[in-house]
Amino acid sequence: MSRARRKQDHIEYALSTGFSAESSLDDIQFVHQSLPDSASLYTDASVEIGGLSLSSPILINAMTGGGGDETAAVNASLAEAAAATGVAMAVGSQTSAIKNEQESYTYKIVREKNPDGVIFANTGSEVSVEQAAQAVEMIQADALQIHLNVIQELVMPEGDRDFQGALERIKRIAEGLSVPVIVKEVGFGISFETAAKLRSSGVVIIDAGGSGGTNFSMIENKRRNQPFAFFDQWGIPTAAAIAETVHAWHPGSVIGSGGVRHGLDIAKIIALGGSASGMAGAVLREAKNHGADGAAAFLRQTQEELKIVMTAVGAQNIEELKRAPVVLRGETAYWLKERGID
Ligand code: FNR
Repeated sequence: MSRARRKQDHIEYALSTGFSAESSLDDIQFVHQSLPDSASLYTDASVEIGGLSLSSPILINAMTGGGGDETAAVNASLAEAAAATGVAMAVGSQTSAIKNEQESYTYKIVREKNPDGVIFANTGSEVSVEQAAQAVEMIQADALQIHLNVIQELVMPEGDRDFQGALERIKRIAEGLSVPVIVKEVGFGISFETAAKLRSSGVVIIDAGGSGGTNFSMIENKRRNQPFAFFDQWGIPTAAAIAETVHAWHPGSVIGSGGVRHGLDIAKIIALGGSASGMAGAVLREAKNHGADGAAAFLRQTQEELKIVMTAVGAQNIEELKRAPVVLRGETAYWLKERGID
């Protein structure tokens, strides 16, 4: 199967499997405040994360590229929406484009459409320092995301089976690059143990990437004859993954992602100790169905929702939102109690 076909399958299957009305973030509830002393006009959702200034704590998370004209068109729509709303954006994995120059236009279009925006490059951990620098250079990226996708690889018949030495390679990349390095999961969740291993690696930001949204076990299982169905239920749910990562990584910056649906989810991620939130599937759905304008409208609505929730809980800025009291219920409360994380 060609790489272009695989990339298109990812988009198609992500749209058909990824949406869930429920989220582990439903287990987090803000404690209502009747005297918030706030005004939405003065609510400031800007945030500083790993030395990068973002006008809102929202990131269009890594999705696509490399698959030819179709993925270039999706990337162009996402980049136009990012430029129109001022949100940061990551491109999909550039690992293959580093080796095949003819694929690079599908990524470069993201910088062309959004010359002044905050853009993240993306590779796997197997690349050399030079290749990581090439990925950054390709789109004049402000940071590099290194994705960890063990379960996706194991479900893919042609995927990796050897994950030795990844931490050492990540360290070399983080030390060798001039831009901040972000380590991210693709939807199975960063655990306390994984985040702890990354301490003193030079990595600046961790994206906890929990389960409950786009499910790469389901996506890859659709592409194989004898599915490893047991991995479809695998992973640390988003709310627990964020709490685990924050617990190990504090005071470092944490991005929360995995099935993020709206501004309320983003507010909850910040109240759990995250600094920003990544959305992939939800923005992709808007871009595919309604183009760049639809994706931009969705992002504006999400920004507005976040500010309204901040006003309700009396948080005039992101630091105050981090201190807003929440109660944890259900599976998330049980998980964190079992894990000794409060
Ligand atoms: C992804 N994701 C992803 N992540 C990554 O680091 N490199 C990549 O190349 C891709 N490719 C990709 C393609 C498609 C079509 C989707 C939908 C997603 C994973 C993505 O960044 C994110 O971690 C997960 O999708 C979970 O977030 P959502 O979709 O639940 O918001």
